[in-house]
Amino acid sequence: MYNFDELIDRSGSHSVKYDLREQIFGTDDLIPMWVADMDFRTPPFITEAIGKRLKHEIFGYSVRSSGFNESVIQWLQSRHQWITENDWITYSPGVVPALSMLVLALTSPGDKIIIQPPVYHPFKHVITNNDRLPLLNRLIYSEGRYSIDFDDLKKKAGSGAKLLILCNPHNPVGRVWKNDELNEIARICIENNVLVVSDEIHCDLVFPGNRHIPFASISPEASEISVTTISTSKTFNIAGLHTSAIIIPDAGMRGKYNAVLDTLHVGYGNIFGNIAMETAYKYGSDWVDELVEYLYKNVRLASSFIKQNIPEILVIEPEATYLMWLDFQNLGMNDKDLVNFLVTKAKLGFNDGCIFGPGGSGFQRLNFGCPLSVLMQALERLRNAII
Ligand SMILES: Cc1ncc(COP(=O)(O)O)c(C=O)c1O
Repeated sequence: MYNFDELIDRSGSHSVKYDLREQIFGTDDLIPMWVADMDFRTPPFITEAIGKRLKHEIFGYSVRSSGFNESVIQWLQSRHQWITENDWITYSPGVVPALSMLVLALTSPGDKIIIQPPVYHPFKHVITNNDRLPLLNRLIYSEGRYSIDFDDLKKKAGSGAKLLILCNPHNPVGRVWKNDELNEIARICIENNVLVVSDEIHCDLVFPGNRHIPFASISPEASEISVTTISTSKTFNIAGLHTSAIIIPDAGMRGKYNAVLDTLHVGYGNIFGNIAMETAYKYGSDWVDELVEYLYKNVRLASSFIKQNIPEILVIEPEATYLMWLDFQNLGMNDKDLVNFLVTKAKLGFNDGCIFGPGGSGFQRLNFGCPLSVLMQALERLRNAII
């Protein structure tokens, strides 16, 4: 049994979430529930593996062991029933860097790339910062649930788009896309020669009643047009180690991606990141099962607390991730006032929904990857500020 209730002071540990509070919110007197890492200790089998290598005391240029790809293949097969091949697997020092490299590798300046807002904000940045054009296939929000606007997706795909960046599971709205939804995405993209980059970084944190389906696993045709990005960073709380695996079944696309990786000279990776990722996938199954159970308890308790005590706020029930998308529109505040209210009155640091693009106004994203006692303290602050 792992202890997810332990309170660990992260301030002063070079933590973005804690040590940038003053810079981001103008005060460090708040509970930080924004950037997506968790307040749980990294599991001991990972710190032990890093510690063992640390004792060697020489940290020269290093390569990933053959066990790295094996651990990825094993994990995807046992956790997600997806059979991958050794050749398909390549590397990136993080998923967002991979998204940017994929944009460079698979498209040209001026090309159109589809995203589905409200969505993880760097999706747009990797497009615009590389001089490509984002096409916004906005999600439909109806009765507290999000779905894909397939008519609009068809139009956007048919307008010469080169790529769709899919978020599966979706951050921030918490959807785990179902088989029929993924099939429809694949059908539209194949018909219109649109490649699909499926960011599946949240795939291991899926709640009971839902099952993550890798986009590439739904058919050989989908596999051919796909790139899948995964990482142990969210699942095992090791985002600071910047290591991820990129799975590209098509040899041509993989060659183009690897050429960018080589040009940037970032292919070897970080010795500790490589060891941590391999170890996590080799030994992490039980830990993830316990973590998901804990997160699921957190989300159920948070959701029922809000429904009972702060019914003005609508909870979009997440099917995955430790991120909760909250609809504050009933409070009738503009976004600036809402953030100000949360920071100064409730003393809470959430992510402002606006950063996720159209559809984000009036919403906030709450990170519940923390001990239950902290989550409940935060919700009480929210209730006390509102009543
Ligand atoms: C959908 C998604 N992709 C990528 C990332 C970040 O990945 P990395 O830290 O590996 O760049 C996040 C972090 O929140 C995310 O939610």
